[in-house]
Amino acid sequence: MDNINKIKEFWDSKALDYGTKPEATTNDVFMRHIEIDYICSYLSSFGEPLKILDIGCGNGYSTLECKKRVKWHTFTGADYSEEMIRAAREQQKEYKILNGIEFKVMDVLKLSDYKEKYDIIITDRCLINLSNLNNRKKALCEIAACLNNGGQYLMIENFIEGHVEMNRLRAYLDLPEIPVRWHNSFFSLNEFRDSIKHIFKMESCENISSLYYLVTRVVYSKLCQMEGREPDYDHPIYEVASKLPPIGDFGPVYAIKLVRR
Ligand SMILES: C[S@@+](CC[C@H](N)C(=O)[O-])C[C@H]1O[C@@H](n2cnc3c(N)ncnc32)[C@H](O)[C@@H]1O
Repeated sequence: MDNINKIKEFWDSKALDYGTKPEATTNDVFMRHIEIDYICSYLSSFGEPLKILDIGCGNGYSTLECKKRVKWHTFTGADYSEEMIRAAREQQKEYKILNGIEFKVMDVLKLSDYKEKYDIIITDRCLINLSNLNNRKKALCEIAACLNNGGQYLMIENFIEGHVEMNRLRAYLDLPEIPVRWHNSFFSLNEFRDSIKHIFKMESCENISSLYYLVTRVVYSKLCQMEGREPDYDHPIYEVASKLPPIGDFGPVYAIKLVRR
């Protein structure tokens, strides 16, 4: 089985194991709070009701949180995992938000096949699951093709540059390198700039994980190593670190605002 099929199986199994729990798509729920806050603040800056697609929405946790907070937009949450979409629809009933949001099975690599256009498309750690550069490039083109004129793309994805910097700090404290997980392949800034140059204009690029990773993956990890215990995602330091602003370049998660050319 090639990697892309194994990755899809991985996400199906996460949906079956975790259902509607926030951990279905990440153990690091406070990093996702940072991402959700960023998305909501971005969407709040558009006063008129817009048609939003959140592609790679997982079990719908962040899409529903956004709809709850930025009520006036219409949301489609989509994912290629039927199991994730099943969990998202269940979660929608738990949230009791029935209007202005729907969940659909869609593959980001075939987005234009669905013949729908959106004002804003969001990805939150979706394109890092596409296995290789060709697929990442194709996904960016598909996203651009499904935006209305003047449409915008908010991309929250992992970049190797911030990941390397975080590992450089860990090395100072004799901590082992954190590898990129088998199912992820990160963007690099040069590759990304080259991929988007004809399709998007970059409005801003912020590392939203920098101080959070500095505190949790460097300082807290060192304390755990000294005390001979494993880091625990429930430790209050994660919540405290999640309140820090986007300063520096010591973590992998970047938020990039793009406008279709
Ligand atoms: C890391 S999870 C993030 C989920 C959600 N955005 C969040 O922040 O909780 C990645 C999601 O992308 C989905 N995904 C991966 N490849 C995809 C593709 N080609 N098309 C649509 N969804 C995809 C996976 O099924 C998974 O739910």
